[in-house]
Amino acid sequence: MTLTVRTRVAIVGAGPAGLLLSHLLAEAGIESVVVDSRTREEIESTIRAGILEQGTVEILDSLGDHSRARSLGHRHDGIELRVDGEGHRIDFPSLVGRSVWLYPQHEVLTDLIAARLAGGQDLRFGIVAERIDDAETDRPRVVGVDADGQPVVIDAEFVVGADGSRSVVRSTVTGSRFGGHLREYPFAWFGILTEAPPSADELIYSNSPDGFALISQRSATVQRMYFQCDPETDTAAYSEAQLWDELQKRVPGTTLEEGPIFQRDVLRFRSFVAHELRRGRVAIVGDAAHTVPPTGAKGMNLAVADVILLDRAIRSLLLQGDERRIDEFADAARRRIWKAQHFSWWMTSMLHASPDASDFDRLRQRGELRSIVESEAGRTYLAEAYTGWPFATA
Ligand code: PHB
Repeated sequence: MTLTVRTRVAIVGAGPAGLLLSHLLAEAGIESVVVDSRTREEIESTIRAGILEQGTVEILDSLGDHSRARSLGHRHDGIELRVDGEGHRIDFPSLVGRSVWLYPQHEVLTDLIAARLAGGQDLRFGIVAERIDDAETDRPRVVGVDADGQPVVIDAEFVVGADGSRSVVRSTVTGSRFGGHLREYPFAWFGILTEAPPSADELIYSNSPDGFALISQRSATVQRMYFQCDPETDTAAYSEAQLWDELQKRVPGTTLEEGPIFQRDVLRFRSFVAHELRRGRVAIVGDAAHTVPPTGAKGMNLAVADVILLDRAIRSLLLQGDERRIDEFADAARRRIWKAQHFSWWMTSMLHASPDASDFDRLRQRGELRSIVESEAGRTYLAEAYTGWPFATA
């Protein structure tokens, strides 16, 4: 027995992109169904990055009381770039009149899921999408199975792949599972969560002779920190004392507040942009369409920017029968995607120690950092990109 569900927009993936899109479409009266292979508990407990651009917070305001970004999150008016132990603050409001919010992605997801369920939205967990049929007709379909192995078909007028970096929908759009522009990096981040007070008021991005470290935060009692490591590093290879040593030596000038380390993970980096973002009535957004290394804190914000464009394009298509915006969607999205790709690559290459760097490379990198932190124009570029370029407006 196949379960067949009919809707206007089928969204694969209940991450920030898929859930936000279903919310924005519902505001325009367009019904959607969101499916995800994971359980709600898995989605709400996966630890991901934590920085929201001001524009992202403003979009989340449309969730009303369900968005706790302003009440639980913290506004950050700057970051510190530390170069060889010397701190340089990038003051966002004075440079660009904007700020960012520290509000972890799993909290954003908890808010979005609560808002969608309160609005009577059809969210289905434990459904594995296997393929998309009839992408180039006006009745595309998601074909998959539920947690009991029962076949499920979602008949729609438009299908969106918001199903992350291992997207199943992507191959429908690009013709192959990994069709895209790819860059890999010879380092990764070793991330920890620790029960300790913050070591600094703001985030510290530190370039030291021993490599990069990022001192971030989660709350008054839980901190998130990362240090540059080899991508093959085994998380069990370090004792807690060794982890603190590794972190501490990469942030000369600050004495880290140590506490029990209750989670550790290795984050591999890649830069990726799919060759195509849409085929017929199927589009991909967020990590399904592109990934960025985490140094610029752009991942979730870029997904939000895609969704704003796609929401407008689907509204025009399904409410007015106007295809212009959907035809322009991929080019419009790519303009921001490649700016964010550049910024993420640039922050990454400027702040990390490359294993094969020559003395020339290292000294040039110091020169690059100084040309940013010692120049108002340099700091302004960084602040503008970090706090986020304006989103498309109606
Ligand atoms: C985080 O808090 O997890 C975080 C913050 C800033 C980044 C990346 C990760 O650039």
